[in-house]
Amino acid sequence: MGEKIYIFDTTLRDGEQSPGATMNIEEKKRLARQLDRLGVDVIEAGFPAASDGDFEAVREICKVVENAQVAALARASNGDIDRAWESIKGAKYPRIHTFIATSDIHMQHKLGMSREEVIAAVKRSVSRARSYVHNVEFSAEDASRSEWDFLVQVVETAIEAGATTINIPDTVGYAQPQEFADLIRYLKKNVKNIDNAVLSVHCHNDLGLATANTLAAIRAGARQVEVTLCGIGERAGNAALEEVVMALYVRNSYYNVETNIKKELIYPTCRLLSMIIGMPIPAYKAIIGGNAFAHEAGIHQHGVLKNRLTYEIMTPESIGRPPSELVIGKHSGRHAIQQQLEQLGYRLTKEQLDIIFQAVKGLADKKAQIFLEDLEALVLEEIYRIPDKYKLKYLCSVSGNMAIPTATLKIQVDDQEEQISEFGVGPVDAVFNAISKLVGKQPKLLKFSVNAITGGTDAQGEVTVKIEEGGKTAIGRGSDPDIIVASAKAYINALNRLARKEEEKIWARV
Ligand code: KIV
Ligand code: ZN
Repeated sequence: MGEKIYIFDTTLRDGEQSPGATMNIEEKKRLARQLDRLGVDVIEAGFPAASDGDFEAVREICKVVENAQVAALARASNGDIDRAWESIKGAKYPRIHTFIATSDIHMQHKLGMSREEVIAAVKRSVSRARSYVHNVEFSAEDASRSEWDFLVQVVETAIEAGATTINIPDTVGYAQPQEFADLIRYLKKNVKNIDNAVLSVHCHNDLGLATANTLAAIRAGARQVEVTLCGIGERAGNAALEEVVMALYVRNSYYNVETNIKKELIYPTCRLLSMIIGMPIPAYKAIIGGNAFAHEAGIHQHGVLKNRLTYEIMTPESIGRPPSELVIGKHSGRHAIQQQLEQLGYRLTKEQLDIIFQAVKGLADKKAQIFLEDLEALVLEEIYRIPDKYKLKYLCSVSGNMAIPTATLKIQVDDQEEQISEFGVGPVDAVFNAISKLVGKQPKLLKFSVNAITGGTDAQGEVTVKIEEGGKTAIGRGSDPDIIVASAKAYINALNRLARKEEEKIWARV
């Protein structure tokens, strides 16, 4: 057995800062439960001082996480640290994660602080965090652009003040693998109390090197890595959990380290995130993309047929990708459906399972084959859809090369049903015009995308829309074998989320 690498997942904090990846509290709890099952060691649940919504979400996440440590982020100020502690004190294994920038450019232009003032702030903030909890992480923001000897001083101070984990972020994705590894070695060699803390790295992907830098740091002695599912995060994102974990696994003899991750839950967990934030996983994405295990070139297909190892360095099963054959049919029982759902990370009550069971039967009448992705779409559609202000009751769409595209709709607004007809340049335009007129809102449509959930012309269409009104944004998703109906569902879902944001005063971060 090699040494252990601690997996610190920051999907719910840094990942949520990814444009369009905002999640509500229920969605964050669902994802946190799944991350816990996946076996991550630390879940960074949020930045409680950022807003009341973030604070509440962290508190709620603490209640559902059973095994992982739960971390809350705080700037190096008493107010932030107190708020972080308030939010995580209910966790089984709480961690305060405090940070301050240490590069000259950040200290001068962002903080307006001298090196001496930053050192004093490190000492003060880590000590305050330690007055609440033993488990304290300190991050030197923009460490990769900091002067190395100053960084040595900062890290030494943080450990002296009681930090148990020291994180070295490549905040702007500037580092190069060899150089970053050298920095880690330099710290290990020159920080005199370095053995009293776990050394961690946190890499951004601006130059496409987040995973490479993370792995290079592990080779140089880092023992915690900060990652996100699918690599989502600020700007170009963070190091992807699935890439780092699978590199360590596939190249075990090279790295000789272990993680706690249950690899067969990697794919379902990434899918869950993708469904929650309404962003499809790109087909070309390493490990989890639709094409990651597809062999197109004849010569490759020939090799794989003879022996999979000719062109496959890992199996789809090892990350929990379902085989692409039919999994659910009209005659599948509740138990089979429940089992499949559990594998995908959904634990439903008996009543919820009944709803899905009926929905599967309904879908089986329209569609010849039902795949796991269809099942997943049904769960999101039927179970996790947020309580709706607007509900689609009826839709008739007319279009064609000799018809003016027209949509006739009936929508329930709170308790009242209303109907309307409208025209458009195409059927989706007609539907959106009708819905907008009926609900009395004209949001700007920022994104409209249609995906076939599975193959075949009877595949369910999965539509994602992003809208904006008055500076607030919302994402909506809808799926249906009819893409016009899926579009209407997605648009109404986004309007419902926008309405809910207005009620909760949760502002989307764009
Ligand atoms: O990228 C970064 O520097 C961060 C820190 C707050 C850890 O996210
Ligand atoms: Zn970051």
